[in-house]
Amino acid sequence: MTSPKTVFIETYGCQMNEYDSELAKSILKNNAFQLVDKETQADVVMLNTCSVRDNANRKVFNRIHEIIHSSERKDVKIGILGCMATNFRQQLLDNPKLKIDFIAGPDSYKQLPTLIHDLYQTGKKSFDVTLSEMETYSDIEPSRNDGVNAWLAIMRGCNNFCTFCVVPYTRGRERSREPQNIIEEVNRLVDAGYKQVTLLGQNVNSYRYEDDRFVDLMEKVSDVAGIERIRFTSPHPKDFPLPLLQLMAERKNICKQIHLPLQAGNDRVLDKMNRTYNQAEFLEVADQVYKTIPGVVMTTDIIVGFPTETEAEYLDTEHVIKAVKFDSAFIFKYSERPLTRAAKQFPDDVSEEVKTDRIMRLIEIQKDISLERHESYIGSVESVLIDQIGTRRDSEAVRGRTDGGIITSFPFVDGLALGQTVNLAIEGASPNLLRGRVVS
Ligand code: 5AD
Ligand code: SF4
Repeated sequence: MTSPKTVFIETYGCQMNEYDSELAKSILKNNAFQLVDKETQADVVMLNTCSVRDNANRKVFNRIHEIIHSSERKDVKIGILGCMATNFRQQLLDNPKLKIDFIAGPDSYKQLPTLIHDLYQTGKKSFDVTLSEMETYSDIEPSRNDGVNAWLAIMRGCNNFCTFCVVPYTRGRERSREPQNIIEEVNRLVDAGYKQVTLLGQNVNSYRYEDDRFVDLMEKVSDVAGIERIRFTSPHPKDFPLPLLQLMAERKNICKQIHLPLQAGNDRVLDKMNRTYNQAEFLEVADQVYKTIPGVVMTTDIIVGFPTETEAEYLDTEHVIKAVKFDSAFIFKYSERPLTRAAKQFPDDVSEEVKTDRIMRLIEIQKDISLERHESYIGSVESVLIDQIGTRRDSEAVRGRTDGGIITSFPFVDGLALGQTVNLAIEGASPNLLRGRVVS
């Protein structure tokens, strides 16, 4: 390549994708590309895509349309990264005129400079969507934005094959990073001023490197001097052994927050989803979490309208969320994904109306539970790590999260800075956040 090209990356989907964009940026910077903040300044626009539900897919298609039609420079090159890469490759093969110039799957980011180089040299569209059993990018330091929290992937891929989920097909098999290499990175994060690290993986608590399991890694990360808060996402309920919960309870710098994806409350549906637990086992894990970690904040993911789910079976999901009283829940309508076992074997037979009805009822129930949970904090003092000063609506408003991860907003007082931990008297609550006042 004769001169460096300017590139812009836009990210969709989960935190893992945010992190992957940081990896891609780092790889590009190291190869003389210049990262720009605006799509209009870029020779090359990359979309790091998500395919977990169909609406994520649709957003990306709309964006491509928008970029093609709004750009003053018709020669802008478009690249697709991430979870839609495999899909797009097929579409590109079927329709070579599609306005996509190159494609790189989640394990192919090291190929990006070559893909772009080839594109500029030959004018030919190129792609690499090969999934690897080894790639963990442990040798790449992500190009992180300065801030309070740093994402750090400790494992990639997934072997669970929940029947609704496309991730095993888009991101391939599970593989974990060497503990020593992770600890060295955490040390560098502390030196760079990060207060919090969030360990990431599609199945983060299935982490395994030789004899080290997730609990062993967490202990090592927790031992790093200077790291104030450690979080992790996204876990599977099957991998919460008691020693892990005990470690979380004992260690001050491990946040008392657990995301425990329920997906459904009915045994037949859970079995059809291949979740490997039934309702009673899930309730037992939740109970053990509450008993072992005082003050823990639990959140969840739920899918309504999985194929063949009846009204009575849906009511089992209501039963579980009322029993566990999660702090908050991400609730989704089932969305059929290509390649998955559900798409191949179970017709998407719950109507859109029924899915909408169930999601709305569940959201209402959860709203009341979230409010009740949040109101229980009124009158207490919470330690909050500041991650935002000034919001769009109120330049004086400060935001941060409690140890359990609940968003808390409060008025600015002199001397506050990003990354500072303050004690707040909690004075108000809504389903989404707490409101407080600085007391120290
Ligand atoms: N349809 C609806 N929701 C899904 N999720 C994953 N796959 C699907 C799908 N096919 C949800 C699950 C998962 C979260 C990240 O997205 O609840 O935990
Ligand atoms: Fe979306 Fe899942 Fe890929 Fe994340 S891993 S970007 S949620 S499909």
